[in-house]
Amino acid sequence: MANRILPFITLLFFSTLFSMVIGDDGVAISKQYPLVVSTWPFKEAVRAAWRAVDGGHSAVDAVVEGCSACEELRCDGTVGPGGSPDENGETTIDALIMNGVTMEVGAVAAMRFVKDGIRAAKLVMQHTKHTLLVGEKASAFAISMGLPGPSNLSSSDSISKWSKWKENNCQPNFWKDVVPLDSCGPYHAKASMDVKEGGCSTRNLMGIAEPRSSLVGPHNHDTISMAVIDKMGHVAVGTSTNGATYKIPGRVGDGPIAGSSAYADTDVGACGATGDGDVMMRFLPCYQVVESMRLGMEPMLAAKDAISRIARKFPDFVGAVVAVNKNGVHAGACHGWTFEYSVRSPVTVDVKVFTVLP
Ligand SMILES: *[C@@H]1O[C@H](CO)[C@@H](O)[C@H](O)[C@H]1NC(C)=O
Repeated sequence: MANRILPFITLLFFSTLFSMVIGDDGVAISKQYPLVVSTWPFKEAVRAAWRAVDGGHSAVDAVVEGCSACEELRCDGTVGPGGSPDENGETTIDALIMNGVTMEVGAVAAMRFVKDGIRAAKLVMQHTKHTLLVGEKASAFAISMGLPGPSNLSSSDSISKWSKWKENNCQPNFWKDVVPLDSCGPYHAKASMDVKEGGCSTRNLMGIAEPRSSLVGPHNHDTISMAVIDKMGHVAVGTSTNGATYKIPGRVGDGPIAGSSAYADTDVGACGATGDGDVMMRFLPCYQVVESMRLGMEPMLAAKDAISRIARKFPDFVGAVVAVNKNGVHAGACHGWTFEYSVRSPVTVDVKVFTVLP
């Protein structure tokens, strides 16, 4: 009997030893809670979430504190008000929160005139039986529930960016197969014959989509996506963004879509994503990451697998995911750019930024 138990104890000993190691390849292991993980070097957001969760608040409340800090700081100009003007020069807000214990989700999309995206998302989760509210109706709901507004979400920065874009004949933009091609709208669908010609190009024969990288760079869609494990071991995630710069008004990306920009299940772990949301939301990468981990995949492999599944169809897409399992093991994977994510845990004192190379 002892002969059979000894190898098991040895294995246990070594796995405990390994659990204290912080890898240099973007894998880190910290079995201690709480834990805060965020896309990008949004250190102030991570610190705000850490203060909440370390002070005994729930994972959901810590996510709200963290994402709110980013909205107030206007992280990279792509979270909160004052950034990412659409074709009309307006800034709108997308946000989502998910409680990994109850699987409740609250989200707002294309919300106008209200700055507090993550707080509005939490109000949807807390005070309605719905999941997602959109547009001006989301604004009216948020204001009726006590959030400040209506406010002007434009800034001198966003307006001057937009003016330059107008002067540059509205280039680049998100239209395709329309006329005119190289000036501002209104746009019209190309005659069907022209569309057919386009359909015979090699890219479509090969099943590969057109290049998209001219529109998506490091500084026009840096969603904050944050995962928190609280002292109880409960998991929550949240996302906040003002979307893609020069988007067609009404566009909603991956930000407020559960399973795309974020997903959480306390039994398994969490995932956050950032990148070319229009492409990523077709694949629900965060749902896939969590489900892969549920089947036993390590976070690193789950993250890489979700990213490569997208890259096989869209070789030019840029994007990244960060995966966290319920033991606090985390890893990131990216495609088309250099991705960084931030972590704070009892063994990662203050905020450590992990860099994942493409
Ligand atoms: C909103 O703010 C921007 C930038 O400060 C300004 O240019 C614009 O006129 C404002 N819009 C309204 C309706 O007040």
